[in-house]
Amino acid sequence: TRPLRVALLGCGTVGSAVLRLIDEQADDLTARVGRPVEVAGIAVRRPAHHPDVPQHLLTTDAEALVTRADVDLVVEVIGGIEPARTLMLAAFAAGKSVVSANKALLADDGPALHAAAAASGVDLYYEAAVAGAIPLLRPLRESLAGDQIRRVVGIVNGTTNYILSRMAETGAGFAEALAEATDLGYAEADPTADVDGFDAAAKAAILASLSFHTPVSAADVYREGISAVSATDVARAAEIGCTVKLLAICERVVNGSPGHPGDTVAVRVHPAMIPTTHPLAAVGGAFNAVFVEAEAAGQLMFYGQGAGGEPTASAVLGDLVAVARNRLAGASGQGPTGYAGLAVRPIADT
Ligand code: HSE
Repeated sequence: TRPLRVALLGCGTVGSAVLRLIDEQADDLTARVGRPVEVAGIAVRRPAHHPDVPQHLLTTDAEALVTRADVDLVVEVIGGIEPARTLMLAAFAAGKSVVSANKALLADDGPALHAAAAASGVDLYYEAAVAGAIPLLRPLRESLAGDQIRRVVGIVNGTTNYILSRMAETGAGFAEALAEATDLGYAEADPTADVDGFDAAAKAAILASLSFHTPVSAADVYREGISAVSATDVARAAEIGCTVKLLAICERVVNGSPGHPGDTVAVRVHPAMIPTTHPLAAVGGAFNAVFVEAEAAGQLMFYGQGAGGEPTASAVLGDLVAVARNRLAGASGQGPTGYAGLAVRPIADT
């Protein structure tokens, strides 16, 4: 049987881990998908920077690669808004499903991208975009689809969690702990994305959109980072049995009427003091964890590695198996894009 052929867009930390796992797990992937999964091409900006990958697969023409007739599925791990957005739309228009790890793009333009995928009857999966390896988006989108989620509270940025954990453990100040996180390679190239809460806000927007079936973008999220958290704040919190965490909080604000017609959604990211007895207080280092409260399911917690090449690649491969199965079944797991339409609270009221 003809293999399923994948176009890989981007070959950085995550892309090279995806490539390695596709190779190492080839037999298992074949068994799980029902056909061999092969890499058809790898689009990169500078081929000379990738001496370790099969050279005949490299191309600088990403657009030609995604629309090639022998490509079935597209994996986008370039990050950023453009050219990722244009390439994704080109893939949908050419009838190819996309697996992405792109939190910025999904937080910016998720509803339009979902609509474009649905219009072509293909899939858009992006488990790796929030909380890396932790299976979270599909549980929210699929496993809890019959329940009503009340609140999602998460530690979704590993860098800031590492910084705050070190401040609590050693009494270090913010700058010292940030320098340590940068040395260990946790912080993004521009650490403001982490410390000022932009990264967490993008992830919060994605979590809220899926949890409440309503379009929420990063611009809807109230955001406050951790650069103003001092060693004294952390010490005072400890004195009263609390720990400081940067939380992404997505809430359905219930207005009390039957059937909840006037409910709204409020989404915010800010440092918060939480009691040391709360399960999120125990999440140390660069780990991520997300606490979910649903009407029927009650309280759930998802915990694991939120960053890094291999953990993120694990989530990408899981999505790849899902979209490959859908493709072979002639189906899409996309579902209707019609959102329930809960209003999102203005930031000023959050
Ligand atoms: N800089 C991010 C973090 C990487 O620290 O969590 C994963 O999105």
